[in-house]
Amino acid sequence: SLPEKPLSNVPLQLHQPKNFQFDSVPESHAWLDLHDHPIVDPIGPDTVPLIDLTDPKLTAKISKACEEWGVFQITRHGIQPDLLTRLEEQIHRIFALPADRKLKAAKSPSDVSGYGLVPISSFFSKLMWSEGFTISGSPLHHAQKLWPDDYSSFCDVVEEFDNVMRQLGNKLLHKILLSLGLSKDDIIRACPVRDWHDMSAAVQLNSYPPCPDPDRTIGLAAHTDSSFLTLLYQNSVSGLQVLRPKDHTGPMRWVTVPPVPNTFTVNIGDLMHVLSNGRFRSVMHRAMVNPAKHRISVGFFCGPPMDVKVGPINKLTWPERGPVYRPVTWQEYQRLRRKLFDKALEAIKIGEEI
Ligand code: SIN
Ligand code: FE2
Repeated sequence: SLPEKPLSNVPLQLHQPKNFQFDSVPESHAWLDLHDHPIVDPIGPDTVPLIDLTDPKLTAKISKACEEWGVFQITRHGIQPDLLTRLEEQIHRIFALPADRKLKAAKSPSDVSGYGLVPISSFFSKLMWSEGFTISGSPLHHAQKLWPDDYSSFCDVVEEFDNVMRQLGNKLLHKILLSLGLSKDDIIRACPVRDWHDMSAAVQLNSYPPCPDPDRTIGLAAHTDSSFLTLLYQNSVSGLQVLRPKDHTGPMRWVTVPPVPNTFTVNIGDLMHVLSNGRFRSVMHRAMVNPAKHRISVGFFCGPPMDVKVGPINKLTWPERGPVYRPVTWQEYQRLRRKLFDKALEAIKIGEEI
């Protein structure tokens, strides 16, 4: 029978005994409440904005997307399609390994890197239909455990990806700050990330095996990211849904973010929410599973250096509305999230948002 509360201390072997070779969804993975809001496929105004990074009106477009959605897709970002193909190959290679091999790289509850459940799993009594592999820092240590004789192709691709994504993440971060109405000088003064060597980043590989009864389970439960921003790549299988923000007119609904080849989805995370003093809200999102197709995705989380405190940018606070949040480091904030999950933003509030 299932424990009432967190599963995080249960050995991983007990979670997915058959490597997802189930004929039906077992009770352990059966979720209720998946239909808390209507789900719409993208149509007309309910389409997550798609932004060309070379667009002359880039700043205005980013500003509108961040205010109305907290998420947008990007094209012409400069990342080579060939790199994404090679990364996809390596992801398939990892998750196709036998369960006992993957478990050699398992992360313990206190580890950041390694194979296992997503960190938010500990907040739910049900399991999710997914496996993950988190890489923070060098992938070498874990790759050697997975492929003692043949780890370098994995490491090479991951390192190449990390390198170009840092540059893209840094560029987007600056564009987002410009779109908040800050000048270049303001940004130099206020931005905790001076250049991409400074940024803290992590790569999250996700695998969502085909599921016999996709309406009964979930790949990844609804959450916001703790980062400044997350760049998400998905293969051709859809599954990502974002919650249309509360303060937008009309009812709340889950909107599918369609996979568009060679695009990334940019999510606003909690620390950007803090930095912007609540003007750009972090976006609630989740991942659904597919009856026939194997879905994979890659999250690239961008945040400040771990020991740098992030608070609302001075210029974005004014007498009538002072800072809404107290400054926190990413590390401190992640610790709060591990304790409070989606109440962490509330916990650092010192004023009222309007
Ligand atoms: C995530 O939120 O980290 C991943 C979502 C996805 O797989 O689309
Ligand atoms: Fe996420």
